[in-house]
Amino acid sequence: MDIFTALKERWSCRNFKSEAIEAEKLEKILTAGGWAPSVMNLQPWRFYVIKNADLKQRLKEHCETLAQTIFARSGWKWVSKYSFEFLVQAPVLIAVAADPKDTGADQFVKEQGTGYAFSCCAAIQNMLLAAHALGVGTLWFSLYDTPQAKEILGIPPHLDLVSIVVTGYSAEGEKHLPRKPIADLTIIRD
Ligand SMILES: Cc1cc2nc3c(=O)[nH]c(=O)nc-3n(C[C@H](O)[C@H](O)[C@H](O)COP(=O)(O)O)c2cc1C
Repeated sequence: MDIFTALKERWSCRNFKSEAIEAEKLEKILTAGGWAPSVMNLQPWRFYVIKNADLKQRLKEHCETLAQTIFARSGWKWVSKYSFEFLVQAPVLIAVAADPKDTGADQFVKEQGTGYAFSCCAAIQNMLLAAHALGVGTLWFSLYDTPQAKEILGIPPHLDLVSIVVTGYSAEGEKHLPRKPIADLTIIRD
């Protein structure tokens, strides 16, 4: 698939089939993550490939409890209605974690040191695009309490859990959300 087609047509899937992803496709998706740029080429990402049904179920239950807390604090109705079913439906969750020490020279600048997380985000976007090109659906997921999610997924304390890529074949039609005109978001300093 042409890169511009993948960029434009990628979308967030929240309803998955339980059908497994072929090992070859999963390998390609992870490899695409590894092709991302990273600070000082440190490649700080660690990809935890979660297929275990019990772990997915425990993560879902944690997220449901968290959503109730967020609803109580925010009053946001969509949070109370948000379904985390995709966490157990999808055959694979790719939890992207990294050691915050694996960051660039930015660690010596006050209140920075976020290069490791930016690098992981680049890897995540690569994986979303690669998956889309392979006909596999994804969701960039971050609605969890990091320490609790790490504990459930067995991610060591010294790593930060940057996000989770929910991965599998879609059980719904593609939904493309509109974008703002790019000219409205572009500031030119000649
Ligand atoms: C950093 C980040 C975190 C996100 N976390 C969530 C999430 O926890 N749950 C969710 O449903 N979508 C999440 N998304 C997906 C966005 O909601 C989605 O990308 C956006 O609405 C645009 O839709 P599209 O991806 O279909 O174009 C996240 C996206 C990003 C970039």
